[in-house]
Amino acid sequence: MAEEPVAGILLEGLKRVEYRGYDSAGMATISDGSLAVRKGVGRVSEIERARRLSELPGNIGMAHTRWATHGGVTDENAHPHASCGGLVAVIHNGIIENYIPLKKGLSSRGHRFRSETDTEVVAHLIEDEYKRTRDPLRATLATTKRLKGQYALAVLFQDRPDVMVGARKDAPLIVGVGQEKMFLASDVLAFIEHTDRTIFLDNFEVAEITKDRVRIVGPGGREVKRKPTQVAWELSDVSKSDFAHYTLKEINEQPRTVLSASVQEPGKVEEFARAIRKAKSVYITASGTSYHAGLLMKFRLNKEAKVRADTVVAGELKEHKGFLGKGSVVVVFSQSGETADVMDAVKEAKKRGARVYSVVNAAGSTLARESDGVLLLNCGPEVGVAATKSFTAQVVVANMVVDAVLGKKRSNGFKELSEAVTEALKCDEQVRDLAEKYKHRTDFYFVARGYESAVAMEGALKLKELSYIHAEGMPASELKHGTLALIERGTPVVLLNPSGELQADSLSNAEELRARGADVIGVSDAKADVYKHFIRVPKVQQKFTPIVEAIPLQLLAYHMSVARRNDPDYPRNLAKSVTVK
Ligand code: F6R
Repeated sequence: MAEEPVAGILLEGLKRVEYRGYDSAGMATISDGSLAVRKGVGRVSEIERARRLSELPGNIGMAHTRWATHGGVTDENAHPHASCGGLVAVIHNGIIENYIPLKKGLSSRGHRFRSETDTEVVAHLIEDEYKRTRDPLRATLATTKRLKGQYALAVLFQDRPDVMVGARKDAPLIVGVGQEKMFLASDVLAFIEHTDRTIFLDNFEVAEITKDRVRIVGPGGREVKRKPTQVAWELSDVSKSDFAHYTLKEINEQPRTVLSASVQEPGKVEEFARAIRKAKSVYITASGTSYHAGLLMKFRLNKEAKVRADTVVAGELKEHKGFLGKGSVVVVFSQSGETADVMDAVKEAKKRGARVYSVVNAAGSTLARESDGVLLLNCGPEVGVAATKSFTAQVVVANMVVDAVLGKKRSNGFKELSEAVTEALKCDEQVRDLAEKYKHRTDFYFVARGYESAVAMEGALKLKELSYIHAEGMPASELKHGTLALIERGTPVVLLNPSGELQADSLSNAEELRARGADVIGVSDAKADVYKHFIRVPKVQQKFTPIVEAIPLQLLAYHMSVARRNDPDYPRNLAKSVTVK
């Protein structure tokens, strides 16, 4: 909402959040008393070409990129959704779990639906309330009381071109406070070009914004006063600079980000360590790549610090609560701090009286705000869909905590680590050639022993996510228990095998693989004849090996995706922030 036409600003905002992954997009504005909605399937630039979103008139509007959950990827299912009376338009992130009974009730009262989405019911419900109250904020608040599930909502009212309303529960929603301009967005990046002053809404709060005023009420309708805070991330941090893709840029930032991750507020790491040492039970939870960082932390806690810690993927924590209760500590890893599975796990932990200590990149995120203790990754915004620099930053922070648990005064060696990462990045060209050679393979395997097993899983996840090739990561010792049956002539198997006590056993596994025709790609500081290809990574302290090994694996996934981009099934849509369960 601004003094000038907003469609151009909204289109820019859409492009900034494009990285999150989506399948369709749309925009709605109000001008001269009428509400206009344009939307479609595909990339923002394609939709703009076909529908001319940027030509929508008006000084108030909203835009959305959708990642389908309920209803296929169609123009009708794209957001915004207008009510059948045309009085209200809504965009929504999340899932309305009780939309079926709500839809039945609305239909029986004569509402007509145009889409298959769960979201559309919200527009109709608000319309009913608005007709009664003529108060945008009250109508939205009353409606949210009937919703089950998760939502971040923005609502426009056709006869109120001065007002927009937002509401949230378990999905991020942030107010951007500009000069004669006000924003509601799920991600600061959407408006950072216009303002870095933000207000983070809490669960169940509803906000009404005009171009120069914000009014927030809590679930009981009582007004909440909250001052804007400044977000630290510079706009320059979110440009691609000279790199072809954000992912490549972020991979190359790692010599710097492993250093920035190591700079933590005095006393904070020790506070984490004390909590872990004193805890009755320790759980480590996270999703995807962040979970792999959690596995690495658990390994060292168990083996070196003799602290028992259980790792459970966040979406499953509820099913593993045997030892979760008062006196437990739950360590949570999350880049975004907004992952729905993660927030669910946190809710469960808190319900059972556990304390939550998180390692998070987004300082203002829900996770950061709801934790008892927070360590920041300090690696700047991660725009690429795949987690890269956040993973290595997580490994840095996890190691600092374990070192503190071990009673080490201060972790060191970060300067050498940063140099080693620079060295590891030199394999770029070699990895690009490998990607070219193996781009038509349908299956990849990643194996390792001990500490490195989690890195093997991470390598497989990265490749699946970026190149859409089937990949599996596992401990090398597991191969003989079934997976060897799938190894045939030319099957690429990446073996992470740093020199040390497990090296010989891993080399035996490599021999078994070669005997079955596999092309073994060794990633190590020490070469061996059994490797068909060898990617040298520098020798580093054992606790840091996952960081230097992650570099070629990230580059492999990246180059494989570039090499395969002409395949007919490419690109597909992935979500960066998985804010649905
Ligand atoms: C993998 C990836 C995902 C995320 C996962 C958790 O490259 O990006 O697996 O790691 O969705 O996300 P955060 O860390 O934001 O909780």
